[in-house]
Amino acid sequence: MWKPEACIFDLDGVIVETSDAHFKAWQRLAESLGISFGEEFNEQLKGVSRRKSIEKILALEDRQLPEEEIQRLMDKKNGWYQDSIAELTPDDILEGVPEFLTSLQQMEIPLGIGSSSKNAPYIIDYLQLNDTFGVIIDGNKVDNTKPDPEVFLKGTKALNADPSKTIVFEDAASGVDAANNGGMISVGVGSQEYLGDANLVISDFVGLTPQKLFSQLNEK
Ligand code: BG6
Ligand code: MG
Repeated sequence: MWKPEACIFDLDGVIVETSDAHFKAWQRLAESLGISFGEEFNEQLKGVSRRKSIEKILALEDRQLPEEEIQRLMDKKNGWYQDSIAELTPDDILEGVPEFLTSLQQMEIPLGIGSSSKNAPYIIDYLQLNDTFGVIIDGNKVDNTKPDPEVFLKGTKALNADPSKTIVFEDAASGVDAANNGGMISVGVGSQEYLGDANLVISDFVGLTPQKLFSQLNEK
């Protein structure tokens, strides 16, 4: 059976559900500026850096702010967000994910994390996943945010894998684009509506085995 040379996972929204905490914190910040947005616009914030997110929010109302103010607002949002993730424990790892990761490990497939988040190291600690991944590339280690493929290409390099033989799991359209831009095999985790550009879309990891997934990808 064909198997990939590596699997790289996005963190927020794939391994753990933090998307809502990001959404609520950004909404709260936006409201304090008199800007409102809903879930559909929030899809555009998924996967992209903190900096890019605030730029997109300010652009909604054509707002321009001095650099120090932008920094202050990002810190404020991050404070709220960090308060909400501080409660995370291994029980918060999404259903089906632990079994899926264990099966990949048994198949000796190298695993990595490719996240835009600068909070990724804290989250990985809270979830006690430090020993699961051979490499963790996060927002502290890249210059370019998704859809730029940098985060995933750094991951494949560290894992010594060919990008075209690496599967990337992503819940964000920007992340699917990043994987595609890097010439990788993209698996969208979520809805076809937002992730239609992925090579394959799955709703979640519940009951999914690597064998099942690899054969579905082979049929494409
Ligand atoms: C991504 C999230 O993983 O990280 C985005 O999907 C978030 O919503 C981005 O903006 C940056 O995260 P952080 O934790 O560095 O603010
Ligand atoms: Mg994500």
